Amino acid sequence: MTLETHSSLEGKRLLLIIGGGIAAYKCLDLIRRVKERGMTVRTILTKGGEQFVTPLSVSGLSGEKTYTDLFSLTDEVEMGHIRLSREADLVLVAPATADMMAKMVAGIADNLATTALLATDKPVMIAPSMNSRMWEHAATQRNVKQLQKDGIHVINPTSGDLACGEVGAGRLAEVEDLVAALEGFFTPTGPLAGRHIIITAGPTYEAIDPVRYIANRSSGKQGYAIARALRELGAKVSLISGPTNLDAPKNVTVTNIESANEMLAACQNTLPADVAICVAAVADWRTSQEAAQKIKKQGGQIPALQMVENPDILKILSNDATNRPTLVVGFAAETENISNNAKAKLKRKGCDWIVANDVSTTDGQSVMGGDHNRVSLITAAGAEEWDNAHKDEVARRLAQKIEKHFT
Ligand code: PMT
Repeated sequence: MTLETHSSLEGKRLLLIIGGGIAAYKCLDLIRRVKERGMTVRTILTKGGEQFVTPLSVSGLSGEKTYTDLFSLTDEVEMGHIRLSREADLVLVAPATADMMAKMVAGIADNLATTALLATDKPVMIAPSMNSRMWEHAATQRNVKQLQKDGIHVINPTSGDLACGEVGAGRLAEVEDLVAALEGFFTPTGPLAGRHIIITAGPTYEAIDPVRYIANRSSGKQGYAIARALRELGAKVSLISGPTNLDAPKNVTVTNIESANEMLAACQNTLPADVAICVAAVADWRTSQEAAQKIKKQGGQIPALQMVENPDILKILSNDATNRPTLVVGFAAETENISNNAKAKLKRKGCDWIVANDVSTTDGQSVMGGDHNRVSLITAAGAEEWDNAHKDEVARRLAQKIEKHFT
C-alpha cells in the first residue's frame, strides 16, 4: 500500500469548528478544497454557525456527521467531545467570533465547540471574522495576543467590505489563504526541508509457495529510526519497508512491499531523490519460480529449491545513469573483518558512504531485531567508529552527517 503525498494536507485530519458569522459559508468551499488535497474533515457547528449554514450542507461536503450538541446522548456514545478533539491533527476555528475568542481566553466550556477546544491536546488555529470595530476593540486585541501566547495560531482577517456595510479589517481570510495556512502548518521546516530521502528498511520475504517464504531477522527498527530522525530535520521521507511490526513513522510516506523485486520497483517509482539509504536486509536470492499451490509432502521426498539472484537495489540506485541520488548510503552487515569487507562493498556497489554494521552478537544482544547497534561510517574521508548505541542515537548521528553534507 502506498500513500503518495502531493499536498502536505494528504492524510491529515482536520477538526473544523464553524462559528457563528456570516463568513461561515466560506467553510463549505474550504471543506471541498482541503478534501481535494487528501485531508479528512470532521466538523462541529456552533448554534451561531447553524444560523448561516446547515448541518446537512456541512455533512454533505465533509462526508461525515456534523456534531452540534454537547449533551447528545448518541454523539457522546458514538464519539464524545474528548475523542472528537483528539482524533485530529489540527483544530481550526473558522470563523472565530469575538465571543468564541473571549471564551477560549477564559477557558469557558459551555458548548460542544468550547469544550472540545479546552479538551484538545492538538494544535489549534483560528481564523477570526467580525465587524472591524469589534476586531479593533481593545478587548479583542488583548484576547488575540493572549491566544497567541497560549500557542494558538492566528490567521489574521483581511480588510475590505464587510457584511454589515462597513469597510475595514475583519473579513475572514479567503479560502485559498486558509488552505495555504493549513498547508504551511504541515509543511516541514528544518535544515533538510526540500530534500527528498528514500530509505529501505526491514527484511524482504521471498515466496516459496502461497504459504511459505524465505525471510531474515531484520525488524526494521534501524531503518524506521533513520526515517524519523531525517523527518525531524525537515526532509521529505519515503520509506520503502519490508514486513515489520512497527508503526509507520509520523509524516513519512510509507510503501509496504514484500519481495526484493517489489522493493526495487518501489524505490525506482519514488525517484528522484536527493539521498537514498539502503538499510533493508534484502534477501540475496529468491526461488526461481514461486509454486502456484502449496507444495505437498511427498513420501519423504525433499523438494529441491532452485534459487536465482535478486536485483541488488543499492548497486542499481548507485549506478542509475539518469536519476542517481546525490548521496547514496549503504549498510554492510558483517560478522568478521568488518571494516575491510565494508570498504570492498562500498567499491563494488558504487555507493558514496557505507555504514559498516557489526551484526555479530554484541554484549549478548543481537543487532538484528535488537534496540542497539554498533557501526562505523565509511566515507571518502575515512572511517569513523561509533560506540555501541541505541538505534535512535545511531539514526540521529547519521541524520546529522547528512545535514552537514548538504550545508
Ligand atoms: O532491521 P533491524 O533489526 O533494526 O536491523 C538493522 C540491520 C542490521 C538490518 C541494518 O543495520 C543493516 O545492517 N542493514 C543491511 C543489511 C544487509 O543486507 O547487509 P548486506 O551487507 O547484505 O547488504 C549491503 C547493502 O546492500 C545494504 O545496504 C543492503 O540494503 C543492500 N542490498 C543488499 C542486497 C540486495 N539484493 N539489495 C540491496 O540493496
